[in-house]
Amino acid sequence: ATDLTGRSFLKELDFTAAEFRGLIELAADLKAAKKAGVEQRLLQGRNIALIFEKTSTRTRCAFEVAAADQGAHTTYLDPAGSQMGHKESVRDTARVLGRMFDGIEYRGDSQEAVEQLAVHSGVPVFNGLTDDWHPTQMLADVLTMTEHSTKPLNRIAFAYLGDARFNMGNSYLVTGALLGMDVRIVAPRAYWPAEPVVAAARALAAESGARITLTEEVAEGVTRADFVVTDIWVSMGEPKEVWDERIAALSPYAVTMDVLRATGNPDVKFMHCLPAFHDLGTKVAREIHERHGLESLEVTDEVFESEHSIVFDEAENRLHTIKAVLVATLRRPGRSDA
Ligand code: CP
Ligand code: NVA
Repeated sequence: ATDLTGRSFLKELDFTAAEFRGLIELAADLKAAKKAGVEQRLLQGRNIALIFEKTSTRTRCAFEVAAADQGAHTTYLDPAGSQMGHKESVRDTARVLGRMFDGIEYRGDSQEAVEQLAVHSGVPVFNGLTDDWHPTQMLADVLTMTEHSTKPLNRIAFAYLGDARFNMGNSYLVTGALLGMDVRIVAPRAYWPAEPVVAAARALAAESGARITLTEEVAEGVTRADFVVTDIWVSMGEPKEVWDERIAALSPYAVTMDVLRATGNPDVKFMHCLPAFHDLGTKVAREIHERHGLESLEVTDEVFESEHSIVFDEAENRLHTIKAVLVATLRRPGRSDA
């Protein structure tokens, strides 16, 4: 059983490969138990605060449903609904919430804030996305990869195309390195992860046997990949003005059917953390369509809707993996696995 009692989940670098894999295995067990209708409620009476300084669909819903399935209660604090950051410091907020809650989820821009919450609250804190890392997304993505591949993790190759300087690019690089995977970051050099992140990944790779490639060449980057992954080109908190710059720099890295064919792998799978810009279903997409004539950005609708796409399996797995984090860190003493 994966026992991380009292631990926080702040970034991938805080975990060993065995601990990370343990969380994936626990998530798979919890998923099977839920599907079979035999899930146990290991978190009865636990209270969990959910602080969202940025918007969310998947992460919020995953925390709320996971907690409810396990018998825990959640309190949602929306981007405007708490004093934190406006009238009250992170440190004071942490000391208050630590007196009332057994665990705290935080989504916002600052990794420093989530780390400070953990230091000062005295309870497990879960990073629901910062500008630097998206670790709960990595659990879901690795679980999804294991479900869609017959290979062990250390033989799986994946290519991330797009802006790799932000949460998703950083997290993919470090997670792949931790787990001994074949990781390719495919982007213009200016969009590669920052040097300290690359150095941390290389250090992990020296231990795990991971292969790390950073390249500007799409064909080289995707060859023989099992999974092609991407993310939206403009992240939450960035100004609207950067769309034009991103479109200019990243358009050659859009995931198209040609990119999937370039892998040489007819069974290649496409993944995306979502939300995705693949059609004109949003206001910002329609504005960009008016200005640039583009109907999709980081992934074409053809790829998104194709049999290669496993994005909704990936989204569902946010629930099972976040549940694993909650159970592993907050389980009542003496309760066993699902
Ligand atoms: N992938 C993800 O984190 O989605 P949300 O922003 O909807 O939570
Ligand atoms: N990079 C994106 C991920 C969304 C889940 C963002 O930060 O907005």
